[in-house]
Amino acid sequence: MPLEYHAAVLHEVETPMTVETVTATELRGDDVLVRIKAAGLCHTDLEVITGSLRYPLPIVLGHEAAGIVEALGPQARALAVGDHVILSWNPHCGHCFYCDRNQPILCETYLAHGPGAVAFDGTTRARLADGRDLKQLMFLGAFSEYAIVAAHQAIVVPRDIPFDRACLIGCGVMTGVGAALNIAEIGWGDTVMVIGCGAVGLAAVQGAGLAGAGAIIAVDLDPAKLDLAAKVGATHRVDARAVDAAAIARAQTGGRGADVVLEAAGSPAGFRLSAEAVRPGGEIIWLGKTDIADDVALRWGSLMGEKRIRRSSYGGARPARDFPLLAQSYLDGTLRLDELISRRIRLDEINEGFAALRRGETIRSVVMF
Ligand SMILES: NC(=O)c1ccc[n+]([C@@H]2O[C@H](COP(=O)([O-])OP(=O)(O)OC[C@H]3O[C@@H](n4cnc5c(N)ncnc54)[C@H](O)[C@@H]3O)[C@@H](O)[C@H]2O)c1
Ligand SMILES: [Zn+2]
Ligand SMILES: [Zn+2]
Repeated sequence: MPLEYHAAVLHEVETPMTVETVTATELRGDDVLVRIKAAGLCHTDLEVITGSLRYPLPIVLGHEAAGIVEALGPQARALAVGDHVILSWNPHCGHCFYCDRNQPILCETYLAHGPGAVAFDGTTRARLADGRDLKQLMFLGAFSEYAIVAAHQAIVVPRDIPFDRACLIGCGVMTGVGAALNIAEIGWGDTVMVIGCGAVGLAAVQGAGLAGAGAIIAVDLDPAKLDLAAKVGATHRVDARAVDAAAIARAQTGGRGADVVLEAAGSPAGFRLSAEAVRPGGEIIWLGKTDIADDVALRWGSLMGEKRIRRSSYGGARPARDFPLLAQSYLDGTLRLDELISRRIRLDEINEGFAALRRGETIRSVVMF
């Protein structure tokens, strides 16, 4: 008897998801069946709902999740039923051109199958009641009671970390903390600016602190987000509607500008500000994204002076290494995750959860199963 379970299905862009009974395929190869316990609503999911990020439909969104291993496929190794896991959205083959060069985020198999929203072997793992294939966003599809993932996407973490906190590590926290620790070259005492203080930006603020930054300038358009940034370690809060954030970076640094700027707003204004606010020779890391068909204009002069720009996905994640470390940092009190959860919701409240994210009311709503 195939497994039946509830999933939130997006059939058309800009329409509400519907919670439906869907059917899992049999476990193949190194598949693992994970019972999802908590899944965060990330801005990237919203971009699929609005259509600015284009994926085949019908699809189950959700790519920031934690759960319990429920069953193992015939070749799944190194996991046991009952393990508590955080799920990675970057499965990678381990032996292609890019995997060999330590860039799993560019893995050829990952990039070949990601846009099709299928599993890592190129086929789907769930069906709608009428028998049609159901796509899964970013090799996960976590707005769902169960997800079938490749074994190496399921990273075992300590059982003490609650699932709602753990799930955040799977995308927003890994991206923001990782960008500061794995990608940017933040030196001891550096001045770091973080533009956009959603979950990704609040994680980047904390990553900058862990990397030894001196001043951490948080920039947002929303005072409530800036309050949270201050709670998790920002030393300066800048409302970009009221003041020139680049001028503040210069005033802090003898006129030079910030040593490192992390953009986590996903806004053309944010990308422009990043180039204006960084010092000559400094480093800009873009984490946010806008519609891939958009043009983003930058003042040419703001790019001069040996500035380095890098667009980065997933914070240089090596999930098997980083997820347990991040989970332990939470348990040790050096990484703050409680502050990132604005609401805990049920799966059938997911459309309201995304409406709240659109209105900018929430950092993370987390679906609790
Ligand atoms: N690189 C990656 O791997 C990765 C992973 C997850 C999310 N993202 C992207 O990162 C961005 C942030 O994601 P999130 O989930 O934290 O989103 P979010 O919507 O929760 O947060 C965005 C924040 O930016 C602020 N903001 C918007 N415009 C601004 C501006 N001009 N100046 C300053 N602040 C501004 C908003 O007020 C909000 O607080 C999105 O673009 C998302 O797509 C990237
Ligand atoms: Zn995400
Ligand atoms: Zn590869």
